[in-house]
Amino acid sequence: MRVVTIIPTYNERQSLPITLERLRAAVPHSDVLIVDDNSPDGTGDWADRFAEVDPKVKVLHRQGKEGLGAAYIAGFRWALERDYDVLVEMDADGSHQPEQLPALLEAATGAHLVIGSRWVPGGAVVNWPFHRTLLSRAGSLYSRTMLGLTVRDITAGYRAFRRETIEAIDLADVDSVGYGFQVDMTFRVAQKGLRIVEVPITFVEREYGDSKMSGNIVLEAIASVTRWGLAARWSALTSRLSGLRSPATDA
Ligand code: GDD
Ligand code: MN
Repeated sequence: MRVVTIIPTYNERQSLPITLERLRAAVPHSDVLIVDDNSPDGTGDWADRFAEVDPKVKVLHRQGKEGLGAAYIAGFRWALERDYDVLVEMDADGSHQPEQLPALLEAATGAHLVIGSRWVPGGAVVNWPFHRTLLSRAGSLYSRTMLGLTVRDITAGYRAFRRETIEAIDLADVDSVGYGFQVDMTFRVAQKGLRIVEVPITFVEREYGDSKMSGNIVLEAIASVTRWGLAARWSALTSRLSGLRSPATDA
């Protein structure tokens, strides 16, 4: 199983070295792709130097900060051009513990998408302020209800996609910029009828640097989920109505 772990970075100069070291130790067979959006703190330069001495590590440089979704899509495209079987998403800041990656990879042998979940039995969050817990739980509940999904942790960012799963999705059509990207991908995978499995993880809040979560990112996600949910209901309704108008001819 050829695995690539994609790590998007924006100003993670303090966290990335620790995360990379832990990842290389925990899952030495995984290649690593760092997708840096020209971080002003020099994260991208540091990653280049690391990549010079570690052939398993590659760096994709982007012009500027374009959001988590855009960074992951660039990383997915890079990986699809190469012969990877599994594409992993992991934050740079230590919230996604590399030591838990083997459990995700194990589950990926029997699922199209594995989600490292905080909100299933056995899952946990360490050191999150109350407002983040509330936002995450409420966000998952709203998305689950609007989109008719059973996934508990829809915004989770620790994931393993099988190659075929990403290939089944039209990446050019995915335009979510912020963390709504995670909901977007979950919904698309579910709509394809592909198998999603949640594996419990312990999410540990970062020690260094700052979260890039913002009010705009939350608003984008709420607006998108509402739009997708209404569109899905509308198309279900119209197809039921057209079924009523042209009943199958009796035998
Ligand atoms: N290249 C790039 N460009 N990387 C970015 C950008 C961007 O615009 N924005 C964020 N990142 C990177 C960060 O550097 C980090 O490695 C990772 O994406 C996650 O960003 P954080 O800012 O640490 O996210 P968080 O801790 O607030 O949010 C976590 O929880 C969310 C909600 O459950 C993440 O796991 C999200 O993926 C998740 O949706
Ligand atoms: Mn974080």
